[in-house]
Amino acid sequence: VKRITTHILQEMKNRGEKIAMLTAYDYSMAAIVDNAGMDIILVGDSASNVMAGHETTLPITLDQMIYHASSVVRAAKRALVVVDLPFGSYQGNSKEALNSAIRIMKEAGAHAVKMEGGIEIAESVSRILTAGIPVMGHLGLTPQSIYKFGTYTVRAKQEAEAQKLREDALKLQELGCFGIVLEKIPAKLAKEVSESVQIPTIGIGAGRHCDGQVLVIHDMLGINDGFKPRFLRQYSNLFEQMNGAIKNYIGDVKSKSFPNEQEQY
Ligand code: KIV
Ligand code: NA
Repeated sequence: VKRITTHILQEMKNRGEKIAMLTAYDYSMAAIVDNAGMDIILVGDSASNVMAGHETTLPITLDQMIYHASSVVRAAKRALVVVDLPFGSYQGNSKEALNSAIRIMKEAGAHAVKMEGGIEIAESVSRILTAGIPVMGHLGLTPQSIYKFGTYTVRAKQEAEAQKLREDALKLQELGCFGIVLEKIPAKLAKEVSESVQIPTIGIGAGRHCDGQVLVIHDMLGINDGFKPRFLRQYSNLFEQMNGAIKNYIGDVKSKSFPNEQEQY
């Protein structure tokens, strides 16, 4: 199979073919996602929430991200593997940011990194790009800054914030990013940005006009029982299905129906 590259993603935008992106954090899930034909697998810092049970993405460390990413890379035969630089690993200075990105590329074997923010992180983005590491931007709702905003509601509804986002998107393109995630912003703004930049935009809660879409796999498979924001389309209810299977197993053990004669040596 031919590996998806940032160059192929650009061609997809140019010919109007939408880009499919989904998160994965471990080998087995990533193998299923890759086999299904996903274009991009994101090793998101949402691992902090869905894998580790933290309330925010802030606690996950660079070492933990590298562990998740290396597992995903071993499974991904076709997808481009993008890895989030976690909170605290790139905001300090550009040298530190570059070291973090190099560790992700070297120790995990990732293909690209993703970073939250616009003009504020321009120097770090630029330095990482100079080292030949592809960078994906992330604008709109940026969960690593949750304590600055206080809520996970829709971003850039006010003109001042919308204008900053437009400028940030152009800046990220100018720096050389190969794509930008747009999280939880009005569909109209996402459409404008997607048309104003040449590079692909990947939306989550940003409407249908983005060049691609991304979701957290636990959310779209319905593994997280309670999480049902408007933007989420749930393609399965694995919580129910797994719960049923596990209860059946417990019942079979208790009732002594498992293992049976054929299931023993
Ligand atoms: O960490 C993550 O899963 C993400 C996506 C929601 C874009 O950054
Ligand atoms: Na993230």
